Amino acid sequence: MPELPPPRDQRRSYRIATVCLGNICRSPMAEVVLSAALEDAGLDDRVEVDSSGTGGWHTGEPMDDRAAETLGAHGYDPSRHRAQQFDTSWFDEYDLILTMDHANDRDVRALAPSDGDAQRVQMFRAYDPEASASDDEVPDPWYGGQDGFERVLAMVERTTKALVDALDARV
Ligand code: 4NP
Repeated sequence: MPELPPPRDQRRSYRIATVCLGNICRSPMAEVVLSAALEDAGLDDRVEVDSSGTGGWHTGEPMDDRAAETLGAHGYDPSRHRAQQFDTSWFDEYDLILTMDHANDRDVRALAPSDGDAQRVQMFRAYDPEASASDDEVPDPWYGGQDGFERVLAMVERTTKALVDALDARV
């Protein structure tokens, strides 16, 4: 498992951004699941989560219906999400930026103002105990069916558990 980047400012909450392409499927699912897990662990006063997409096509829109249905069926509230686009200013605000796939990772790193900022970018599934070198992405479910969203949720829940344990030990 990777090291969590140190907080930028000890006086405020540790800030995490999850980032995908459209910010209507994967990264908002990860944001909602991680937020709920932080609340359950009593860490929500010390860790904040937001999400964005490297593309801006869906800015201002709610979550994809299939993503929202999948979350709702598993007891999460998808209703508050509105899509945002990632830009270089996010590097001023976030301690840890978690990307869903290699394209997202490349696109986010290309916007990093410095090497130090780029070191705050990690693949989300770097925290997944079941990930491997050839299976380290959260695959884009946009073009597939409902089952792809269920697979994304299972990956996100498993990864979130390990991430919250790492955060609990650190913040
Ligand atoms: P996401 O999925 O990156 O998980 O939010 C996608 C959503 C929209 C598009 C692609 C991927 N799109 O091309 O509009």
